[in-house]
Amino acid sequence: MHVGILGSGLMGGKLGTLFTRAGHEVVFSYARDDRKLHALAREAGANARAGTPREAAAHADAIVLAVHWSRVDDVCAQAGNLAGKTIVSCSLPMGPDDSGLVIAGSSSGSEELATKLPHAHVVSAFNTVPSEVLFGVFDARGKRDRPSLVYCGDHAAAKRTAAQLIHDLGFDPVDAGPLRIARYTEPFALLVAQLAYEGAGGPELAYRFERFA
Ligand SMILES: NC(=O)c1ccc[n+]([C@@H]2O[C@H](COP(=O)([O-])OP(=O)(O)OC[C@H]3O[C@@H](n4cnc5c(N)ncnc54)[C@H](OP(=O)(O)O)[C@@H]3O)[C@@H](O)[C@H]2O)c1
Repeated sequence: MHVGILGSGLMGGKLGTLFTRAGHEVVFSYARDDRKLHALAREAGANARAGTPREAAAHADAIVLAVHWSRVDDVCAQAGNLAGKTIVSCSLPMGPDDSGLVIAGSSSGSEELATKLPHAHVVSAFNTVPSEVLFGVFDARGKRDRPSLVYCGDHAAAKRTAAQLIHDLGFDPVDAGPLRIARYTEPFALLVAQLAYEGAGGPELAYRFERFA
C-alpha cells in the first residue's frame, strides 16, 4: 500500500519505519524540521521518502494521523482534500498539558475527527499501544500469540485496510466495532499507557485479549 504519515514523531516515525520494512511505500510528513523527515526516510529504507502533508495524502491508500490533538486542524488543512481517504488515527484528544482526555464519555476524539472530515473514512487504531513496544512486536511477528490491537470505525473497506496494516506490524487486529466504540478504546489507551510507564514491566507492555466476545 501507499501510506502517508501525517506527524512523524514518536508514533508516526516508528509506524512509518515499520510499514516501510513490511513492504509498503511510505511518505513521512509534518515535523518542525524537514531534515528529520529526510533522515527518517533514509533510515527506513528505499520505499520511504519525505514529503509535505499534501504529498503524503495525495496517493495514499491509508493516511496515518499521528499528531498532538492541538495540531489536527493544522495538519489536515495542509493535507488538502481528504474526501474518500482512509484515515487511521492514533491521535488521542489530549489537552495542552497532556494530563487527560478533553473529549470523553458521550463522544471521542475519533468521532470528533470524523465530524471534521465528513467525507473521509476514519478508523481509530494504534493509539492503544505505547510507541516503545512497536519494534519489539514487529521483530516477534513470526511467533505465536501475537499481542492484540483494537481498532474501530464505520467504513468496512477502511477497516480492512487498517486491519492489514495492524497485522503487518505483528499484532492480532481485534475489531472493536463502530467508531463510537472509541469512547471506550481511548480511555483504555490511557490505562495501557499508565500501566506501561508506571507498572513493574516498564514501557515494554503490550496486551492480549484471550477472549473477545
Ligand atoms: N507516543 C506514544 O506512545 C503514543 C501512544 C498512543 C497514542 N499516541 C498519540 O499519537 C499522537 C502523536 O504522539 P507522538 O508521541 O508521536 O507525538 P510527537 O512525538 O510529539 O509527534 C508529533 C509530530 O508532530 C510534529 N509537530 C508538532 N508541532 C508541529 C508544528 N507546529 N509543525 C510541524 N510539525 C509539528 C512533531 O514534529 P517534531 O518531530 O519536530 O517534534 C512530530 O513529528 C498523539 O495524539 C498521541 O496522543 C502516542
